[in-house]
Amino acid sequence: MIVLAHLSDLHLDAGERSQARAARVFAYLDGLRDEIDAVLVTGDLADHGLAEEYNTVAKFFGGRPLHCPGNHDARGPYREVLLGEPASEEPINQVHRVGGAVFALCDSTIPGRDDGHLDDETLAWLESVLTGAAGAPVFVCFHHPPVDLHIPYVDGIRQSGEDRLAALLSRHPNVVAILCGHAHTAAASTFAGLPLLVAPGVVSTILLPWESEQVVDLAAPPAIAFHVLADDGRLTTHYRVIPAG
Ligand SMILES: [Fe+2]
Ligand SMILES: [Fe+2]
Repeated sequence: MIVLAHLSDLHLDAGERSQARAARVFAYLDGLRDEIDAVLVTGDLADHGLAEEYNTVAKFFGGRPLHCPGNHDARGPYREVLLGEPASEEPINQVHRVGGAVFALCDSTIPGRDDGHLDDETLAWLESVLTGAAGAPVFVCFHHPPVDLHIPYVDGIRQSGEDRLAALLSRHPNVVAILCGHAHTAAASTFAGLPLLVAPGVVSTILLPWESEQVVDLAAPPAIAFHVLADDGRLTTHYRVIPAG
C-alpha cells in the first residue's frame, strides 16, 4: 500500500498569509501519526517565480515533496533553487520511484502564459517513462487539468491539446491516475478512462459558479488530498481540510 499526500498551489510569496497557510499544512503533515510514503505538490509553488520565493519553498519542503511547476512558477529560478541545476527554459520533467510506484512529473506550463499544454518533447519523455516503468503503477502528475471542471475562470486557462495525451495514455495500461492542481478546489473527474484527481489550493479556494459571483475565497481553510494505492491496484482518495493549529 502506498499513501500519498497531494497538495497544490502554495503560491508562496513574501507575504505572511501564504506562508502561514503553508506552515499550517506542513505542520499537519509533520504531526501525522504514521509516516506516509510521499508528498506531492502539483505546481504554483511560488507566486511570482522569484528566486527568493523558491528559497521560501525550499525552507518548507526540506527536500521532501515531489513537485512540478505551475503557471506562477518560472523554470529558471525553479531549476536553480529547487533542483540545484543551471537555469534553463527547457520543460521541467522529472521521474521518481516511491514504494514501487512511478511518479511522472510533467511540465504543463507555457512560459509567460496562464493556460497549459504538454509540448511534444514532454509527451515523448512521458512515453519513454511509461514504457520504462515496465508494468509498475504510474501516477501522471502535472499542474493544468486537461478537462473542463465547469468553473469558467479555470476552464479558460486549462490544459489544451489533450487529445495527444489521451492517445498516449491509451497505449499504457499501467497508469493509475492523473493528479493535478491549478483549480484551487477539490475535484474528481476522469480523463482517458482514468481517474483525474485535483488537489485543492493551499493558498485559496476558487468558488463554483453556482455558489457565488465571487471567484476566489481567501477565508476558506487550506485542504489537501490523500491518495491510497492498495496492493490490488485500487486507488482511494480522501480530501482533508486542515484545521487551524
Ligand atoms: Fe494556483
Ligand atoms: Fe495555476
